[in-house]
Formats: sequence, C-alpha cells, structure tokens
Amino acid sequence: MATACIYPFLLSLSFTFFMFCSASTEADTLLSFKAFIDDPKNSLSSWSNTSGVHHCNWTGIICIPTPSLYVSSINLQSLNLSGEISSSICDLPYLSQLNLADNLFNQPIPLHLSECSSLETLNLSNNLIWGTIPDQISQFDALKVLDLSKNHVEGKIPETIGSLVHLQVLNLGSNLLSGSVPLVFGNFTELVVLDLSQNAYLVSEIPTDIGKLEKLELLFLQRSGFLGEIPASFVGLQNLTNLDLSQNNLTGKLPQTLGFSLKKLVSFDISENKLFGSFPRSICDGKGLKFLSLHTNLFSGSIPNSISECLNLEIFQVQNNGFSGDFPSGLWSLPKLMLLRAENNRFSGELPDSISKAAQLEQVQIDNNSFTGKIPQGLGLVNSLYRFSASLNGLSGEIPPNFCDSPVMSIINLSHNTLSGQIPELKKCRKLVSLSLADNSLTGQIPPSLAELPVLTYLDLSDNRLSGSIPQGLQNLKLALFNVSFNQLSGTVPLSLISGLPASFLEGNPGLCGPGLPNSCSDEQAKHHSSGLTTLTCALISIAFAIGTVIVAAGVFVFHRYSKRKSQIGVWRSVFFYPLRLTEHDLIMGMDEKSALGSGGPFGRVYNISLPSGELVAVKKLVNFGSQSSKALKAEVKTLAKIRHKNIVKVLGFCHSDESIFLIYEFLQKGSLGDLISRPDFQLQWSLRLRIAIGVAQGLAYLHNDYVPHLLHRNLKSKNILLDSDYEPKLTDFSLDRLVGEAPFQSTMASEFAHSCYNAPEHGYSKKATEQMDVYSFGVVLLELITGQQAEDIESLDSLDIVKWVRRKVNITNGALQVLDPKISNSSQKEMLGALEIAMRCTAVMPEKRPSMFEVVRTLQSLNSRTCLPNLELSTSEDQSLPV
Ligand SMILES: *[C@@H]1O[C@H](CO)[C@@H](O)[C@H](O)[C@H]1NC(C)=O
Ligand SMILES: *[C@@H]1O[C@H](CO)[C@@H](O)[C@H](O)[C@H]1NC(C)=O
Ligand SMILES: *[C@@H]1O[C@H](CO)[C@@H](O)[C@H](O)[C@H]1NC(C)=O
Ligand SMILES: *[C@@H]1O[C@H](CO)[C@@H](O)[C@H](O)[C@H]1NC(C)=O
Ligand SMILES: *[C@@H]1O[C@H](CO)[C@@H](O)[C@H](O)[C@H]1NC(C)=O
Ligand SMILES: *[C@@H]1O[C@H](CO)[C@@H](O)[C@H](O)[C@H]1NC(C)=O
Ligand SMILES: *[C@@H]1O[C@H](CO)[C@@H](O)[C@H](O)[C@H]1NC(C)=O
Ligand SMILES: *[C@@H]1O[C@H](CO)[C@@H](O)[C@H](O)[C@H]1NC(C)=O
Ligand SMILES: *[C@@H]1O[C@H](CO)[C@@H](O)[C@H](O)[C@H]1NC(C)=O
Ligand SMILES: *[C@@H]1O[C@H](CO)[C@@H](O)[C@H](O)[C@H]1NC(C)=O
Repeated sequence: MATACIYPFLLSLSFTFFMFCSASTEADTLLSFKAFIDDPKNSLSSWSNTSGVHHCNWTGIICIPTPSLYVSSINLQSLNLSGEISSSICDLPYLSQLNLADNLFNQPIPLHLSECSSLETLNLSNNLIWGTIPDQISQFDALKVLDLSKNHVEGKIPETIGSLVHLQVLNLGSNLLSGSVPLVFGNFTELVVLDLSQNAYLVSEIPTDIGKLEKLELLFLQRSGFLGEIPASFVGLQNLTNLDLSQNNLTGKLPQTLGFSLKKLVSFDISENKLFGSFPRSICDGKGLKFLSLHTNLFSGSIPNSISECLNLEIFQVQNNGFSGDFPSGLWSLPKLMLLRAENNRFSGELPDSISKAAQLEQVQIDNNSFTGKIPQGLGLVNSLYRFSASLNGLSGEIPPNFCDSPVMSIINLSHNTLSGQIPELKKCRKLVSLSLADNSLTGQIPPSLAELPVLTYLDLSDNRLSGSIPQGLQNLKLALFNVSFNQLSGTVPLSLISGLPASFLEGNPGLCGPGLPNSCSDEQAKHHSSGLTTLTCALISIAFAIGTVIVAAGVFVFHRYSKRKSQIGVWRSVFFYPLRLTEHDLIMGMDEKSALGSGGPFGRVYNISLPSGELVAVKKLVNFGSQSSKALKAEVKTLAKIRHKNIVKVLGFCHSDESIFLIYEFLQKGSLGDLISRPDFQLQWSLRLRIAIGVAQGLAYLHNDYVPHLLHRNLKSKNILLDSDYEPKLTDFSLDRLVGEAPFQSTMASEFAHSCYNAPEHGYSKKATEQMDVYSFGVVLLELITGQQAEDIESLDSLDIVKWVRRKVNITNGALQVLDPKISNSSQKEMLGALEIAMRCTAVMPEKRPSMFEVVRTLQSLNSRTCLPNLELSTSEDQSLPV
C-alpha cells in the first residue's frame, strides 16, 4: 500500500531519475522473485542480469509503456515451477496480471500478494495450494480475476469474500471446499464467470442472490453438494449462456419461466438431480441452444413440439425420467443433432422417415419406451450413425435391408420388440461390434454374412423363430457372447461355439446337436473329426506354451546377466521427492533374491529394501527402453510423484541409468491383495473386503477424473493393490506407460499379458487405452473379493477364468448365490449380491455399458452404509492384533 502512495509523489519529483532507477529495480525485483523459485527445467534462464536481454523481454514478462517500460504481466504457467511465491513481486508498481497456473507450488493461498497494488488477475489454478480461504481474502478487493481451481483448498468459503466486489471471474472449482456457501454472491455485480464445481464436500443451498448477477454468462456448480431448489431468482440471469447444475442433490420444480427468461442459453445441464415437474417450455426461445440435458431426474408430462425450433441443438438428453406422450417428431430431423437419448421414459409415437435429414446424427438411444410402427428406411441413410438402440419398445414390421448401411455403425439393439421377417444381409457395417435382435419374431436363417463382420463381438439372436443351421463361419469371430437360445435352429453346432460359451446360449433349440449338448449328432464322421480336432488343438497349445516358456526363461536369463553387469558401471541419476537418505549403491546392494517379491510383473520385479537409516522402501526395477530423454522421464515421474491420495502408493523418488529405472515407492507391510487372496486361509470379513473395494475404486476415480493430467492405470490387478496395516488399499504400478513409453508398454503387455483375464475384451482390437478398460480390470478385482477366488486360478474355476466362471454361473437360476465366497456369513449376502451386480456391470462386454469409477465409488459406498457394521471386523487369528 505504502509503495502505491509514494510512486506518484516520486514521479512528480524527478521523472528522469526515476526512469533510470526503476529499470534496474524492476529487474532486481524479478531476480529476487526468481531466487525463491525452484525451476527444474531452467525455463527462466533468460531471467538474468548478465544475459544482456532487457527484462521486459524475459520469459513470461510483458511490459507496458506507462510512462516508461513497466512490468504489467507475468505469465509463468506450465513450467513445472515450485518453491515460494515471494511477496517481493509486489515491488512492481504496475503488475496487473500474475499467472502461475499449472505448476507445483505447494503452500497456502499467498495472501501477501494482496500488497500488489495494481494486481487484477491472479491465476494459481492447478497447483498444490492447500489450507482454508482465510477471512483476510477480503484484502484482495482490487482483484478482477481470481482462479484457485484445481488445488487442495478446503474448509468453508468465508463471508468476507463478499468484499471482492470487482470480481469478473471467480473460479474455486475442483477443490475440497466444505460446508455451506455464504449469501454474499449478490455483491459480485461484475461477475461474468462463477465456478464452484467439483467440491464434493459442499453441503449447501444455491445462494439465491446469484440470481442478481445480470452479467453472469457462465455458471458452473456441477458435481458439488448443492441441495434444495433451484432459486426462482435464476430468471434474472439474463446474460447466462452456460448453466451446469448436474450431479448435485437438487430437488423441487424447475422455475417454469426459466426457459423464457434465459434467451442466451447455449448449454443447459441439470442432469442427475431429483428435480420434477414438466419440461422447461420456451427453452429454445433464444434459438442458440446446443446442449440440453435433463437426464436422470423425476420429470414428467410431454415434451412440446416447439423443441423442433432448436435448430442448433446438438445434444438432447432426457433419459431416465417419467416423460410420456408422443415424442416430438420434429426433433428427429434437426440438422445439427448428434446425440439423442430418451431411454427409460414412456414416450409413444413412430420414427419418421424424415430422420434422414438429421445428417449429423451419431447416437440414438430410445430403449424402454412405447414407440411403435416400422423402422424407417430413412434411418439407413444417416451415414454418421454409429449407435442405434431401441430395445423394449413396440416396433414392428420388417427390418429395412439398408438399416446397417452407415459405414460407422457399431452398436444395434432392437431386442424386445415385435419385429418380423428375415434378418437382412449385413455387409456394409464393417465396424459392427454388437448386434442384439433378441425377443422378436424374426424368421429365416442366420445370415452367413455375419461371419464376415471383422469386429463383431456380441451377437444375441435369442428368442426368435430362426431356423436352419448355425453358419460354420461364425467360429472365426472372436465372439464374447453368442446367444441363439429359444429359436428353431438345427444341425451341428460349430465346435468352438460349444466349448467357449455357456450351454445356456444354445438351449431351447431341440434340433441342435454336438458334443456336450443333449443331442449328439447322428453323423459319426462329424464326431470323429471334431474329437480329433480337440486333441490336435490341445497338443498345439501345449507346444506353443512350452516354446513360450523357454523363450521367456531365456529372456529373463539374458536380461538378468546384462543388467547385473551394466548396473555396476552405468551412470546413475536420482531424484527424490521425499527426504530419503539413500544412494544408488544402497539400492543396488539391497536388490537380491531375498528382498525380491514374487516373480514380478511384466515390466520388472519389486524389491523391499531396508535403508541404512532403518527405513523400508519398495523399489520397482523397470527396463529403460530409452524411449524418452532423461529430462522427459524425470518430468513423467514427477507427474506420478505429485499424486497425493490415500489409495495411491506414494512415489518417493527414482534413479535411472541408460538401462534401468528404479522407482522408489513407500513400503506397505501387508503385501498385495493378490497375495492375500491366494493364501489358503484367506477369510476377510465382507465389511473389510467392501472397504478395500471402495478404496481401490476411489484411487482409480482420482486418477481418472480428479488428477491433472488425467491418468489411466492400465495394469490393475489384485497383485498391484497393496495393503497398509489397516487394510487400506493403495494402487501401485500405475501409469507405467508414461515411463517406459507407449510402444514398449504395448508390446510388453501384448507379449506377456495378452490373455490376462484382467484385460477388457476390446484390449485386442482397440488401439487406444481407455478409462473403461481400467473399469473392467476393477470389476475383475471386485469379483475376486466377492468370490474369494484368484482371477486366474483355473484349477478351482472349472478351467475358466473368473469372469467366464461367474458369467456362466450367474446365467443359471440361483447361480449368483453360488459364486459368493462361502467363507462369508449369510448375513452379508444382500450386500455381496449388490457388489456382484456392480462387478458384472464393470466387466460388461460393451465398454460404454460399464459405469464410471465415480459411479462405482458412489454405488459401493451406498452398499457400505447399508451394512451398518463396524468398519473393521476381523476374523482371521493373525488379524486380531489390528486396531479396531
Ligand atoms: C546481478 O544480480 C546479482 C544478484 O541479483 C547481483 O549480485 C549482481 O551485482 C548483479 N550484477 C549486475 C551487473 O548488476
Ligand atoms: C525486445 O526484443 C525485441 C526483438 O528482439 C526488440 O525489438 C526490443 O527492443 C526488445 N525490447 C527491449 C525493451 O529491449
Ligand atoms: C488460469 O490458467 C489456466 C491454465 O492456463 C487457464 O486454463 C484458465 O483459463 C486461467 N484462468 C482464467 C480465469 O483465465
Ligand atoms: C458487499 O459490498 C459492500 C460494498 O459494495 C460492502 O460494504 C459489504 O461489506 C460487502 N458485503 C460483504 C458480505 O462483504
Ligand atoms: C449482457 O452481455 C452483453 C454482451 O454480451 C452486454 O453488452 C450487456 O451489457 C450484458 N448485460 C448486462 C446486464 O450486463
Ligand atoms: C443427497 O441428500 C441426501 C439427504 O438429503 C443424502 O442422504 C445424500 O447422501 C445426498 N446425495 C448426494 C449425492 O450428495
Ligand atoms: C424402463 O423405464 C422405467 C421408467 O419409465 C423404469 O422404471 C424401468 O426400470 C425401466 N426398465 C428397464 C428394463 O430398464
Ligand atoms: C439390449 O437391450 C436389452 C434391453 O434393454 C438389454 O438388456 C441388453 O443388455 C442390450 N444389449 C446390448 C448388447 O446392449
Ligand atoms: C440368452 O437368451 C435367453 C433368451 O432370450 C435369455 O433367457 C438368457 O438370459 C440369455 N443369456 C444371456 C447370458 O444373455
Ligand atoms: C511438467 O512435468 C510434467 C511431468 O511432471 C510433464 O508431463 C510436462 O510436460 C511438464 N511441462 C512442461 C511444460 O514441460
């Protein structure tokens, strides 16, 4: 403050003297600011008084000529800086913008920056800022832009924040704020952007005075703990373009005049709340609406045909409500519509042929409604359509021959309708993954052309009136599901379709014959041929396996010798993120057979090492494929080390040479969940297993959604889940792709773990790793917890892996009860069945059928609260020493 008063005075006193003086002071100020900053990549190398570069030309600096050159803006975002944000920077009298976003500053909110008299913009987004927002936040009353998003700021928002009356942007999203939001937002009359989203611990009504913010354009309150009604005052948000209130706990009716008032709306999302009442009329009055989502609420009544005036609409989602009446027919032909979801309502009406005008349409999901009439020819003309799902309706008539003509079509579900006639030849949809026509009245043969669809994985033709034999060619497909039960099929079943899939998929076709079926084929020759084939296949598999073992063994041997020799002479570099008293020498000396755990994963072994200081650490030794520079590698490890989550193992540091990378993790005494399950005396109580499942799910959800950059685990299995002394699970071995490089990662996974049952079915053909693949692996781990069986212990799983074993059992009446671990008392049966249902969804064949980890966490937690048992309830004798 004092500086601000003195400067005008000095200026008038001696202009020339001051100019000279200020140039050197400003550079010095910047240098002393730099002195407190840790700059690992040397991004601030130009910041130097010997470089000969004027300080206005230093990295990130912008000067304004008022009255001579003064620093007005410092932008140092995304440079991986850490250290201290020194208040010395406030000696720059004209500094108006400070952007330190996307760095690693780890400290409370730097209140001392309020001394910067001209500061208008402060951006500290995506750092490691922690602690509460102090009452003194009011000192920032000159700020126009405050962005503290994506940090670890916690506690209540203080009332004093209401003093920041000049704010135009306030972003507190993705933090750990809690409690209720104070009623001071009406003070922010200049506000254009308000973001309080993703603060899961807030429990608050939406402050009614937000409705006073006439200038507000963007309002993001999604995924926080808002409850109660949407304030009627929202009709005052005349300038609002984007409103997101999704995934809260809002109740009550939507203010009816809302649509009428908010004429500038582009995006309107109130999905996943408990709102009711009728569809917001006039929502399209402004014509600009592109995104409309009301899904998963309790809305009812019909949707007015005026919705077809939304000529710019791209996304329309009203699924999971109680809407009824004729579906607005104009909606089907909106020229920009891409996604239409209306499943699980009670809509009626027919699909018009004019759907062909929806030239951008990609996805239609209208399952579980009361649509009637024929599937229009026009549908086959929409070339962008890749998903059409209209099961559980009253659609009738023949399937038009062109209906799978879209070159990108991959999912069709027309099950549970009253379609008749033959299944047309499907030749053009080379991308078709899933075809379900179950429970219709289709006749004729299974078209042999199905066998030529290269990625077809899921085929359900059950419960129709199909006849003839099962085309031999279908054996060539990698079908995960093939259900032709309850038809009138006959003849020999192709062998691989019998051996690989549950018998229930063939039942109800008395004319079918083959080994293992009620009817053996009368044709002896066919029988001979097939048993010969089995023997041959077995022999081939054993030979292949033997060769594989030899190759792997030889590889391990060579690698071992090679690395032993090199590791003693190589040049080592280490980086520690925690104060470890440790040298590479200690690590190498500590790595012997005695300290090695298990046989190691695909990328190398883990060793438990006791440091000279007495501390224990776990060290994973990876092959350094040399796919990235030492600098890039360091940056990648840093990304992993920055993660702070109770369910993720801490990376303490790493050392690397040209040959190896040693990742140093915290040590956890209970070993891995996989080891625990494999013990013959494994018998954890259900409440504890559920707690482990929730912890694992939370860790994954954090990697997927909350951590920036978003990460994938890519190698989740029970062996990679470690347990601390309280059985709190921690994920390890995550995101190794970032260290070894994508190509070596993929080829290692493909060579050694291609057939692991933790891998999702699409692992084979999908080039891109996805969150859904992690969800699948999680489902497998959950099955292990529910059944008490190891996923790949095929001896006790009838020669199957756990997923197939459970799926076969579950298809039988009361089979679900048979898969539950018998060592757990019946009193937990209900919760275990609940968990089984989640596990089945996670391991769904169709990736998009799998829930998000966020949803998994929520569902598992709801099971937990139902259990009402103490959290720790142990039974094994060994476990009794644990704290309760
Ligand atoms: C450069 O800066 C350093 C530290 O800020 C200072 O000690 C030194 O005297 C300066 N040199 C010149 C030539 O200004
Ligand atoms: C900054 O660099 C530009 C081009 O390199 C130069 O024209 C300009 O004069 C420099 N500014 C100062 C203040 O030295
Ligand atoms: C803060 O910086 C981040 C990272 O560049 C950027 O995405 C965000 O928009 C900035 N915040 C504001 C309010 O400009
Ligand atoms: C709201 O702003 C006024 C000045 O415009 C100020 O007097 C009042 O204290 C502010 N309210 C809060 C809660 O800070
Ligand atoms: C709404 O926004 C427009 C420009 O987008 C602006 O001219 C107008 O002043 C704003 N309305 C209010 C009430 O601030
Ligand atoms: C919604 O509110 C109810 C009680 O009001 C509470 O039990 C529930 O946990 C809340 N759900 C969420 C997702 O916040
Ligand atoms: C069909 O939708 C209704 C709501 O309209 C819902 O209650 C029911 O569970 C849904 N059925 C299926 C099979 O999803
Ligand atoms: C097809 O729809 C039915 C009924 O909605 C559903 O049970 C089934 O899982 C769906 N199949 C696929 C592959 O999506
Ligand atoms: C196979 O189809 C039959 C008849 O539609 C059905 O009862 C059965 O549940 C289906 N099996 C599976 C696993 O989808
Ligand atoms: C910062 O480090 C992370 C890894 O810690 C890396 O992914 C990122 O590219 C680095 N940022 C820059 C700008 O190099």
